[in-house]
Amino acid sequence: MADIKDIKLAKHGKERILWAEQDMPVLGLIKGQFADKKPFKGLNMGLCLHVTAETANLARTLKEGGANVYLCASNPLSTQDDVAASLTKDFGIDVYAIKGEDSGTYYKHIESILSHEPNVTLDDGADLISVIHKKHKKLIKSIKASMEETTTGVIRLRSMEAAGELKIPVIAVNDADAKHLFDNRYGTGQSTIDGIIRATDMLLAGKNFVVMGYGWCGKGLASRARGIGSNVIVTEIDPVKALEAVMDGFRVMKGTDAAKIGDIFCTVTGDINVIDAEHFENMKDGSIVSNSGHFDVEINIKKLKKMAKKVRIVKDFVEEYTLEDGKRIYLLAEGRLINLASAHGHPASVMDMSFSVQALSAEFAVLGKTMSPGVYNVPKEIDERIASLKLKSMDIEIDTLTKEQINYLKSWQEGT
Ligand code: ADE
Repeated sequence: MADIKDIKLAKHGKERILWAEQDMPVLGLIKGQFADKKPFKGLNMGLCLHVTAETANLARTLKEGGANVYLCASNPLSTQDDVAASLTKDFGIDVYAIKGEDSGTYYKHIESILSHEPNVTLDDGADLISVIHKKHKKLIKSIKASMEETTTGVIRLRSMEAAGELKIPVIAVNDADAKHLFDNRYGTGQSTIDGIIRATDMLLAGKNFVVMGYGWCGKGLASRARGIGSNVIVTEIDPVKALEAVMDGFRVMKGTDAAKIGDIFCTVTGDINVIDAEHFENMKDGSIVSNSGHFDVEINIKKLKKMAKKVRIVKDFVEEYTLEDGKRIYLLAEGRLINLASAHGHPASVMDMSFSVQALSAEFAVLGKTMSPGVYNVPKEIDERIASLKLKSMDIEIDTLTKEQINYLKSWQEGT
């Protein structure tokens, strides 16, 4: 039995799911193929993903492929309750997710998924896999494979693998080019700006916008913040990425220096306490701090609470912390991913690619050779197939190599 906020929200959710579907043509093609082939016939699939309109279309695709699909949230604040209602009512998919659920309920919902004894799991952040390894080892033998959607999850899984603790084969969906080059960059770029604007209603033009971290998400965010007219400052710990940011035309400096001049801060690093006491101390009155990394650990909120003499909720997703000297710092969305908490996450067109990688990787895992435990890359053919289909859906044709060019690339004799 599903556990959702309100089944009466289903009508609105269905409208949004079908609207997103229109912008997911590649996943639509895969859905059609799955309907014929039924690669997941009779399998239970446990999904721990952000419950959004786009995820709904992935869940429908897997169901069309013959799976029994069970879905819970991969973050307590990212669930779209209308989508959860529609999936349950209109599409026969059991959802266990309520926006704003506390940590106990979040983990109870993960347990609900596991009570269906999944044969395949899809994770965004590796919470499902982690709970299976910590509390439900007996489920491991019936799990054929798992997919991981995000950078943070892949990092966790690689540490499990290095420690010899990973007992399930996992495909690192995040690492596919068709995923991170587009979703992490253009998806995070746009949806993070969207989240900050929806939460604050502020003009970003002319503001000092500090992007903390210059991985694919940071690159996308910095570029979109510049596009909207902010003066973008980047902070990094990796010299190569820092240099890249400099040559991309951004100001790069230490976090504590950026703290003095920034108006809006957003962390996208995947690490803890990226904004800490020394940053809060240096910040201007009215500074806005937010996070778009997977977990709510990048801003040291505990420290901020300790430093504050007064805390109050100003409006949805905006909390005001007044420090001893009267300075106010505004924390957005409790430090959880701002793009999914106060906005709707990445647009459908980019999730089309990420979720096509998910769907085809799941098919590969189920129909291909049995894989031993470990972290696997997405097969190159899947990457290329998705990029080709996406281009086709955009009516864009590209050139192919001539025979002569292929031979030239293979030969080593020809030089100057
Ligand atoms: N992660 C970021 N945006 C998302 C979306 N729209 N749906 C599912 N997962 C996401």
